Amino acid sequence: MFTIITGSQFGDEGKGKVVDLLADKYDLIVRFQGGDNAGHTIIHAGEKFKLHIVPSGILAQPRLLIGPGVVMNPEILIREIEMLSENNIVITPERLGIDAKTSIIMPYHIQLDELGEATRSEKIGTTKRGIAYAYMDKIARDEVQLSDITDEKRFKKRVSEVLPQKKNLMRSLGKAPETDEKKWVNKYVGVGRKLKPYLTDVSHEVNDALSDGKKVLAEGAQGTYLDIIHGTQKYVTSSSTIAGSACTNIGIGPKRVTSVIGIVKAYITRVGEGPLPTELHGETGDRLRDRGGEYGTTTGRPRRCGWFDFPLLRKSVNLNGYTEIVLTKLDVLTGLKPIKVCHAYKYKNKKFEYPPHESIDTCHPCIGRT
Ligand code: IMP
Ligand code: MG
Repeated sequence: MFTIITGSQFGDEGKGKVVDLLADKYDLIVRFQGGDNAGHTIIHAGEKFKLHIVPSGILAQPRLLIGPGVVMNPEILIREIEMLSENNIVITPERLGIDAKTSIIMPYHIQLDELGEATRSEKIGTTKRGIAYAYMDKIARDEVQLSDITDEKRFKKRVSEVLPQKKNLMRSLGKAPETDEKKWVNKYVGVGRKLKPYLTDVSHEVNDALSDGKKVLAEGAQGTYLDIIHGTQKYVTSSSTIAGSACTNIGIGPKRVTSVIGIVKAYITRVGEGPLPTELHGETGDRLRDRGGEYGTTTGRPRRCGWFDFPLLRKSVNLNGYTEIVLTKLDVLTGLKPIKVCHAYKYKNKKFEYPPHESIDTCHPCIGRT
């Protein structure tokens, strides 16, 4: 059995919570895209932990995998592993596997993300975790993979190959690059040594598990409208966040998929810039934010909140091929009178029940009461 879970909106629909609930029914849980731009809060023995890269389901029994389509900051991962083990949640290589081809987020990716945002005339509002620049390197064939940092000689050769162009890029954005890279290179070598025992081939593991009749859950990060191809460009993340991406990024055939679960929040939120047709600016938006605890797990930014948006969900069902839906945070609406939903958009004097193909930038919501 192979199940894919994705967010149907702009992320933060509560995917992590649903994965945690289902985790005991699965043998493997695989994270397939994104990086530490994602965030997920877990509560264990009364303590709250914020996780960004360790897959959800950590409190249950299944083996956790990080697939090759993820961009991983290895320092963040080590920090999370250490923090969990200090709290008696021990992560060993038996418990966690990371694909050898996983892209590594390098210090220059984070610097470039910061510089990129600072020099843009219109901000995207990224999480400044270096995500876009790490994926750019993958496409440009300049990425550093986990198997590189676990081999000191190979890593140093790779750095000397790609660093000059990064320095040029930084200079062109008005920043003098750090002259002493020895320090962080050695730090990464140390981190690579720690991560070596976790190396695996995720596609091989998942395909074998499925052939043995085991149950695999693929956990998406972010949400459908942050998808690099189908989202609200340019206000998107740099990976494919929809269900089909699980097959490509893990390396399994589409015929293996059994079900696709869409996580749908009873209202809508978005962090960062970009269109949000049903956004509420006044008291009701503030109330949803406070009641729903709508603050970014990664950046702490207040999330923009709005009424439930049916046109977006209709398209999301198509993009992901949902076979099931989980509705989350319905309780946050308790006491609100009336509760409203957007059933269509008004755009260029016409009514659209499905988002118009141009863009949703200037769509006005048609709001009904429940
Ligand atoms: P990046 O992924 O850091 O490049 O950010 C691009 C956009 O995606 C920004 O608007 C972020 O706020 C948004 N974003 C990235 N990750 C998440 C997430 O996990 N939840 C919600 N929004 C996210
Ligand atoms: Mg989140």
